[in-house]
Amino acid sequence: MAVHVVLNQKGGVGKSTIAVNLAAVTADVLNHSDDPDASSPVAAVSIDPQGSAVWWAERIDDLPFHIVQAHDDITRLSQLRDLPGIQHVYVDTPGWIGNADDGADPLGGADQEALRAVLDVADQVIVPIEPEPLSFDPTTRTINKVIKPRGLRYIVVINNWDPRDGTYDLNETKDFVKANGWPLAHTVIRHYKLHTRASADGHVVTEYPTNRVALQAREDFYRFALELNVGGGAR
Ligand SMILES: Nc1ncnc2c1ncn2[C@@H]1O[C@H](COP(=O)(O)OP(=O)(O)OP(=O)(O)O)[C@@H](O)[C@H]1O
Ligand SMILES: [Mg+2]
Repeated sequence: MAVHVVLNQKGGVGKSTIAVNLAAVTADVLNHSDDPDASSPVAAVSIDPQGSAVWWAERIDDLPFHIVQAHDDITRLSQLRDLPGIQHVYVDTPGWIGNADDGADPLGGADQEALRAVLDVADQVIVPIEPEPLSFDPTTRTINKVIKPRGLRYIVVINNWDPRDGTYDLNETKDFVKANGWPLAHTVIRHYKLHTRASADGHVVTEYPTNRVALQAREDFYRFALELNVGGGAR
């Protein structure tokens, strides 16, 4: 079993989008449809106290994976590895106000307790970054102050790249990640209006229609899941 935590202190980089859609494609592959009563081996956990809480609350019981909203249940969070029958857990985290460059652990406060609890049980951290310089500093702080000091395995993934913008910002972002020596996913999650609309409507990529654009939009999440190697059954 594996716990994947989606983390970046910058707001709006796609943490929630990536957590729920990775859960969706993993469940799509691992759910055993021959038994309609079988329980999904995939769970998505939100520790965001506000942000997407409405989205999550509305979707409970209506998705092909388990949903857990547990930002204030530290005991439960510290036992994420022991969820019966679960092979993959994706944790959606809030953006948070980190300390300035004072060397302190930005997760020092009591309100960061949930984040610390899930990082304690994480196998891997997924760090979304957008192809724009504004997301460089928060990403650097997230990796240097939070992920590296804990010795966690991590991978950076570029999200929300619009091919119509050309490759200048994309390449600048790739170069920035590589110059820092961070592991970078080969998959770039492209910008599709469909994703923006779907999260407003509470849909996940596996529920998209099967037209060409929707299939392209889904493909990025299947590709990224393939890179993360989550389809083989980690039991
Ligand atoms: N690849 C994408 N294509 C289109 N829209 C996207 C994509 N990724 C994210 N978005 C949209 O960008 C907005 C922010 O994404 P999301 O809520 O997933 O970010 P977040 O990191 O969880 O934000 P927060 O820190 O506020 O929790 C949402 O409206 C979402 O639908
Ligand atoms: Mg979010």
